[in-house]
Amino acid sequence: MNKPNDLAIRATDLNDIDSNASHDNHFNSILNARLSRRNWLRGSAVTAATAVMGSMGLSACGGGSDAAAVTPTPTPTPEKLLAFTAVPKSLADVVSVPAGYTATALYALGDSLRAATPAYKNDGSDTDFDNRAGDHHDGMEYYGLSAAGAPLASGTERGLLAMNHEATTDEKLSSHFLHVNGGTTTLPRPAAEVDKEVAVHGLSVVEVKKTGSTWATVNDSAFNRRVTPLTDIELAGPVRGNALVVTKYSPTGTKTRGTINNCGTGKSPWGSYLSGEENWAGYFTRSATDNAARGDKSVVSLNRYGRSQGGASRHGWETGGSDDKYARWNLSKIGASADGSDDYRNELNGMGYIVEMDPYDKTKAIRKRTALGRYAHESAAFSVPTVGQQLAVYMGDDSRNEYIYKFVTTAVWAAADATPADRIATGDKYLDSGKLYVAKLAADGTGQWIELSLSNAQIQTYGAYKFADLADVLVNARLAADAVGATKMDRPEWCSVNPANGEIYYTLTNNSNRTVNPSGSSQLAPDSANPRAYTDMKGSSAQNGNPNGHIIRFKEGTGAAAATSFTWDVYLFGAESGADASKINLSNLTADQDFSSPDGLAFSPYTGICWIQTDDGAYTDVTNCMMLAAIPGKVGDGAKSTLNYATAAGGNLAVDTFIGKKPTADTLKRFLVGPVGSEITGISETPDGKTMFINIQHPGENTALANIGDPSKYTSQWPANAGYGAGKRPRSATIVITKNDGGRIGS
Ligand code: FEO
Ligand code: CA
Ligand code: CA
Repeated sequence: MNKPNDLAIRATDLNDIDSNASHDNHFNSILNARLSRRNWLRGSAVTAATAVMGSMGLSACGGGSDAAAVTPTPTPTPEKLLAFTAVPKSLADVVSVPAGYTATALYALGDSLRAATPAYKNDGSDTDFDNRAGDHHDGMEYYGLSAAGAPLASGTERGLLAMNHEATTDEKLSSHFLHVNGGTTTLPRPAAEVDKEVAVHGLSVVEVKKTGSTWATVNDSAFNRRVTPLTDIELAGPVRGNALVVTKYSPTGTKTRGTINNCGTGKSPWGSYLSGEENWAGYFTRSATDNAARGDKSVVSLNRYGRSQGGASRHGWETGGSDDKYARWNLSKIGASADGSDDYRNELNGMGYIVEMDPYDKTKAIRKRTALGRYAHESAAFSVPTVGQQLAVYMGDDSRNEYIYKFVTTAVWAAADATPADRIATGDKYLDSGKLYVAKLAADGTGQWIELSLSNAQIQTYGAYKFADLADVLVNARLAADAVGATKMDRPEWCSVNPANGEIYYTLTNNSNRTVNPSGSSQLAPDSANPRAYTDMKGSSAQNGNPNGHIIRFKEGTGAAAATSFTWDVYLFGAESGADASKINLSNLTADQDFSSPDGLAFSPYTGICWIQTDDGAYTDVTNCMMLAAIPGKVGDGAKSTLNYATAAGGNLAVDTFIGKKPTADTLKRFLVGPVGSEITGISETPDGKTMFINIQHPGENTALANIGDPSKYTSQWPANAGYGAGKRPRSATIVITKNDGGRIGS
């Protein structure tokens, strides 16, 4: 089953795409207690009551009017991580956090970034989104500032939030919350609607500052900025200047117009911001006769990346007018040139990278790091830097049946690069030269990293696509990975490295294409690394495959970051707590721990807690999406297990897998539940671990366009219902979480 982003699925989850129909053989084959530095009860007023406080937080939060009467007493008390009371599953239209914590909306869709742009009216009439917060806040990183406003990584009271604005809430063509009457759902789209919808995509940087105990954004900060799908971005690394990226916009193949569908993030050891371009293909259209017009191998590439001919674009932006900024959304070969310098036949080859930005410096070029490969990128997680050794960057490709990758730098880590004079030049040093690998996992709990280069005979001689050079391998990394028989995974989302031991965790969010009796090229039988195929009921509807997802982890072999082999196990299986513990709830999750569709995942470098966030549609009859706190063990701390499946032919399919040590009430606990229809994403903290910023993406996403005039029919009114901002239309937003006693988040 191959699902192009055609009109029929425009309103569905664009993450949930598969275009991997390759026929290669998917293989069947810390921290428990710590002393905090100063964990005393703060006398100062707790966050003023309370835009977004969960109901449990409310009772713990007094008025704080006794600030002057209390002298803080610095009596260190033992800090126990995960000491909070678990937040129950919930369908309420609020952000719920544990007792003793406060969560407050901070930065929402449309918020003004400069004095000249008026406050957001939130009624569909707002314009000037180049100077407002974008939509669908996603991955996010915090960058400290000194009290005086200079870059200072250790700054805890003032800093920058750099974040991705992934997409918009759509029905058919229109991003309906952005337009007064919901916008148009037929072609052509009006230029004014297109311009607005384009501008809410991309990245933003916003200054945040703490005054007393209250965090707020700084309007008109010189650091505030937007990057959009129209911003000039350089191509860097092996693909720069290659024939595959020649366009009318860049006849020399050295730059692209903007970045789009930015999802997960990363923070480099030299302090830059990395952003993954994820579901970019669906924004572009291609004519129904384009294959014949091309008549070359680019058709194979386009099909593999989800743009078969005749594919309609997600929003119809190509119909906004005759200007080149609209024409670029049409990938059809319509020009007469031999090299593509007079149309956008190669435009798609400029999308799908890890993008590097210096969040502190608007004057520095933004660069797409092509050496890390082109696919549906999520986060980019670095190995723990060791002086004199190479760095690894771990990444995943989020579509059904896609792969896990890592990039290993040519350069070895130099301590001075932790505080470089030029972050982007430092990015050139580490990210433009190295080797890209893809993961192949074996049934015995081992795995191999296979280099993607022309030195591999399987790539050199691949029958389905003839690679010209390294740039071609990187642009078509999916095809190269097919050629070497990489392991097809259940949708790799974020990854993160455990700072305590260097092990790498990957969320595999779900996969509707796992089945005991596969048919067609896109369905896969369960295998050791993706071992579950089951039915989870959502009300009366059966969800098949691996609807709840799991979290896999790797331990590198000899060579650490540069290793070419690893061992693995499954850290956690998502499941309902009541599901069959022998087949589905393999991690024995309790009601305080159960979750579905893990997506965001990051280890705190400060507390060591592993934060897990969900973007779920399977368990949402019972609970909204959530964030959990975990203290994992290590690869191999559990046991080997065999799952047996009855096949249609009357046989038994036995699947060996490796299940990590099952969590306890002290090692996994639900910390937060979000508003209706939202995904929880973006994990960042101040370097003292005492302030956490996360993103609430697309609350109310299932609100019908027909109901745009009736707020009572919005499926969510968050954050307006928590006292934040004008209007009642739901808005994606950053929230700030603090502990009322001034302690670290997760204690
Ligand atoms: Fe944008 Fe795969 O999540
Ligand atoms: Ca269910
Ligand atoms: Ca994601």
